[in-house]
Amino acid sequence: MTSTRKSIHGQWSNRIVFILAATGSAVGLGNIWKFPYIAGENGGGTFVLVYLVCIALIGIPIMMAETMIGRRGRQSPINTMSTLAREEGRSPGWVMLGWMGVVAGFLILSYYSVIAGWALSYVFRTGSGAFLGVTTDGVNHIFTELVTDPERLLAWHTIFMVMTMIVVARGVKHGLEKAVRFLMPALLALLLMTVAYSMTTGHFMEGVEFLFTPGTISGQGVLIAMGHAFFTLSLGMGAIMVYGSYLPRHTSITQASIIIAIADTGVALLAGMAIFPIVFANGLEPGVGPGLIFKTLPIAFGHMEAGTMIGTAFFILLSFAAWTSAISLIEPAVAWLVENRGMNRIYASVWIGIFTWVLGIGSVLSFNLWSEHTWSVPFLFENKNFFDTLDFITANLMLPLGGLFIAIFAAWLMSENSTRDELNTNKFIFRIWHFLVKYITPIAVIIVFLNVIGVISL
Ligand code: PHE
Repeated sequence: MTSTRKSIHGQWSNRIVFILAATGSAVGLGNIWKFPYIAGENGGGTFVLVYLVCIALIGIPIMMAETMIGRRGRQSPINTMSTLAREEGRSPGWVMLGWMGVVAGFLILSYYSVIAGWALSYVFRTGSGAFLGVTTDGVNHIFTELVTDPERLLAWHTIFMVMTMIVVARGVKHGLEKAVRFLMPALLALLLMTVAYSMTTGHFMEGVEFLFTPGTISGQGVLIAMGHAFFTLSLGMGAIMVYGSYLPRHTSITQASIIIAIADTGVALLAGMAIFPIVFANGLEPGVGPGLIFKTLPIAFGHMEAGTMIGTAFFILLSFAAWTSAISLIEPAVAWLVENRGMNRIYASVWIGIFTWVLGIGSVLSFNLWSEHTWSVPFLFENKNFFDTLDFITANLMLPLGGLFIAIFAAWLMSENSTRDELNTNKFIFRIWHFLVKYITPIAVIIVFLNVIGVISL
């Protein structure tokens, strides 16, 4: 049966706006900050390959499933799950999927905001000309100086959270379209300029080979690559679901999902191609961790023509990209507070903002006072501090688990009538989608999980 529900939060004006908003959510720190550093830590080539396969075989189908569920339910993910579970005659327990997403969103935003704060701070660093003619030691020094100063990190984290709360309070749709329509192409242009600089380093091919020549990968590496496919496409926690709930009825979910995935992957690969040649040209280590882009890109900006201007613009746009992702991380929670607690958006945003801000202090301290406070969980991870633990639990466990349940719900528990009607795509594509979501996604996620805890060995 066709659903005629409407969202109380309004609707995107058309398909393009949805694509822009979802791309705004997808393209963020995940592509430019995280992808290069985890690719570097996990040896490059094979990691990138696993990530690309996950995007194609798991990411796109789950994005379709999540958008489809969102549009059918037309509410916050929590209420959407409970409505659809009832309509499809399934257990009310499915509402927990919505809750897990809300929790994942909080946890992710708490550290995401701290890293976005680094990007904000680099706007001013670069703008002041601090990187002109800079050496490798110079960039290292500037980065270390920033992250070892908890007060400065806290200040930037606070500024970023306030910026995010202001947009969320006003409603996600205001202004987002304009921001994404102009700023994303601009970010792409600057990224291309940085790639062009990297081509002049004489180490471009070394960078490309690192990214695309298969080598070895650990079981953990496979988990991280899969987790990142979810993280970078904003899947598994309801962000895309809630954006789908604002989607007009007759737009093609298939097309939109493919466009978003291609744009997102393109940005990540370009970021990799900009960064790794600089790594090799300057004798840096690919596996230096979360500081990677902050230790490489400034070298490019310090040595290219008009680098101060280009670099400043780059970090402004990176902060914007982080911003459009951050608002989608808490939209599921805000939508729920508005629906169920009758709160207005402003109150809802302020409360959530405060909560997330406090949690973010843990990540602020992870780079300085608490950097040595680490713990290990048998079979899962070793020696991770607060920030690393949050990142691991959310990106590598909660999002894939969320994706697994979305797949099970969409393919095994919703009737084919409902999914066919809502996806509204041609028969052939529907068959492929159904097959992937029914078998491939669940099996892949389960195998990767079992592999990590050592039950099986790939
Ligand atoms: N996709 C965003 C990025 O790559 C992060 C994100 C994850 C946003 C999950 C929303 C939900 O930066």
